[in-house]
Amino acid sequence: MKKTQIKKAVIPAAGLGTRFLPATKALPKEMLPIVDIPTIQYIVEEASESGIEEILIITNANKHCMENHFDKNYELEARLYESNKLAEAEMIDAIAHMANIYYVRQKEPKGLGHAILCAKSFIGNEPFAVLLGDDVVINKKGKPALKQLMNAYEEVASSIVGVQEIDLSQVHKYGIVAPSKDYPSEGKLTKLFDMIEKPDQHHAPSNLAVLGRYILDPEIFSFLEDQEAGAGGEIQLTDAIRRLMIKHSVYSYHFDGIRYDVGDKFGFIKATIDFALDRKDLHDKVTTYLKELAQSMS
Ligand code: G1P
Repeated sequence: MKKTQIKKAVIPAAGLGTRFLPATKALPKEMLPIVDIPTIQYIVEEASESGIEEILIITNANKHCMENHFDKNYELEARLYESNKLAEAEMIDAIAHMANIYYVRQKEPKGLGHAILCAKSFIGNEPFAVLLGDDVVINKKGKPALKQLMNAYEEVASSIVGVQEIDLSQVHKYGIVAPSKDYPSEGKLTKLFDMIEKPDQHHAPSNLAVLGRYILDPEIFSFLEDQEAGAGGEIQLTDAIRRLMIKHSVYSYHFDGIRYDVGDKFGFIKATIDFALDRKDLHDKVTTYLKELAQSMS
């Protein structure tokens, strides 16, 4: 019987972060904090809360501090204990135990599909999860977005992409799915007929965009291996999934949760405000400030 339990995840984090220059000249974009937590930590937390045990982060030469972040820091912990900052010491220690994290470098910036191919020997022959760091998803009332996809995989045992509706004017930024007409949607899970990377508005098959969460069968690697460059001159994961779809079923799953595009400056600012409002220590101050600001602008 086919294995349907997902234990491994891949997080591509080798992008150059050009949208956040100059901050990302020396600092990986994944380390930019939303309030005080680096964005990559939210992604690793989502994977770990979904039951993922092993995570491979695809990095490049400029990303050492990400490895340090998920490692033990004995000196810092000892100093925090000495100064009786127990909560802080425990928090620092917990970050080093969230999951077993491994790293591999993508040697050339050839695109998302190429980055995922770097995970081939780590994954072997089992289904796996992919989480993109630009998409932070919060689902306070229910299961993490990835866990929702993992549960759906147990039902269909076929690759699944996580989707939500977006404004049609934004389709040129995303992978857009075409639901199959022969298989009407059964709730949130829909069989796919096609998928297009960054179409223009007139060629978009729907307004359902892939928002950074995937469960992929290992067969994807054979398509990635000879995948030609697509949109933006890069080897696109979407194009390989599209070819996978000819031989194997691929589904979309409309996940619950608020998704923040933290790869975009405005998305990052929205996340910062919302996350600050959600914090007990900041809620009142931020609310007062926002009210004052709104008054001064009216
Ligand atoms: C990538 C994928 C795209 C997906 C998007 C989600 O694009 O190629 O299919 O919809 O992430 O954020 P990128 O944002 O890297 O251009």
